[in-house]
Amino acid sequence: MKKQFDLTNKNAWVTGASVGIGRAYAIALAKAGANVAVVDIDDRTGEKTAEEIRTLGVKSVFIHCNVRNPVEVDAMADKVVETFGRLDIAVNNAGIGILGPDESYPLSDWEKVIGVNFTGSWLCCAAAARKFIAQNKVDKKPLGGKIINTASMSARIANCNASYDGSKGGVVEMTRALAAQWGRHNINVNCISPSYILSPMHASTPVEVRERIRSLTPMGYMERPEDLAGPVVFLASDASNYVTGVDLLVDGGHTLNAWLTPLGRDVPPRVSPEEEIKSLVHDMNALEVPCNEDGINFDYHPEIANAYKAAFGIK
Ligand SMILES: NC(=O)c1ccc[n+]([C@@H]2O[C@H](COP(=O)([O-])OP(=O)(O)OC[C@H]3O[C@@H](n4cnc5c(N)ncnc54)[C@H](O)[C@@H]3O)[C@@H](O)[C@H]2O)c1
Repeated sequence: MKKQFDLTNKNAWVTGASVGIGRAYAIALAKAGANVAVVDIDDRTGEKTAEEIRTLGVKSVFIHCNVRNPVEVDAMADKVVETFGRLDIAVNNAGIGILGPDESYPLSDWEKVIGVNFTGSWLCCAAAARKFIAQNKVDKKPLGGKIINTASMSARIANCNASYDGSKGGVVEMTRALAAQWGRHNINVNCISPSYILSPMHASTPVEVRERIRSLTPMGYMERPEDLAGPVVFLASDASNYVTGVDLLVDGGHTLNAWLTPLGRDVPPRVSPEEEIKSLVHDMNALEVPCNEDGINFDYHPEIANAYKAAFGIK
């Protein structure tokens, strides 16, 4: 009997999968049995991740693709189908953030962030849908497919700036618009919204800020890429066949925290600060970027380091 979350013989792509959240998604799908194409602009690290996934006993290839480039996105989709025979799961996760106040924010940065996070996700959704619709025409039983986008809690709270928060709000509403249109093809379109995740995107976040985030999060620890493993497998599997147009918030309760009393703890959190950073340290090593024992390198995203240091009065 097929297990509920089994992805054996399913084929997936994950964009932005060289490190961070995308790598964790790719590993989770592979552990559930899927073959996974690791899609990214970082070829060296992406090849390493594909190699790591092959050790899990499934097929995996690295495919270079800038999700902002429609020609590269279509070529990537063709390559996935050529390599695996068909596409079942498209995880559109690649994203960037560029901090800065909106009153002096350069248009070029706005276009970069909106371009990758919003336009890039839409290009990948459309490319996946074209494959699913074409496959339905030859399948005896139209299987459709699963599209999973990465949005963010930033679609619900204003914690970054207009380009990032706005791009993620766009991803959530785009997900709903596409889910409404493509249900007729048996295509589910959903998104996952993480909170602050200890991926390389947060490699320049000071420990004082991590402590503050923990203290404002009911589950009491900082989110790790692997905390999204269960949610992505759920949305990729038959277990979620009647779930579409949903934004699955995975934030440890962080966005519930407009409370007047401080959060306390009766038992230690499930994850310790030492365990929180394992994936981050792995990724910094894979990127060949030096970091300290907390996985921190303030020069990796200096603008994030400087903004947090100024806000928290850290020298
Ligand atoms: N880290 C967080 O706190 C957090 C929270 C909520 C949502 N997110 C979102 O999750 C997603 C993944 O973030 P992460 O934390 O793993 O980031 P990360 O910076 O650690 O990794 C992002 C990966 O995407 C790749 N990438 C960047 N631009 C690309 C492009 N144009 N085409 C293809 N690949 C590209 C990078 O090379 C990298 O491998 C993003 O959409 C991000 O906005 C992150």
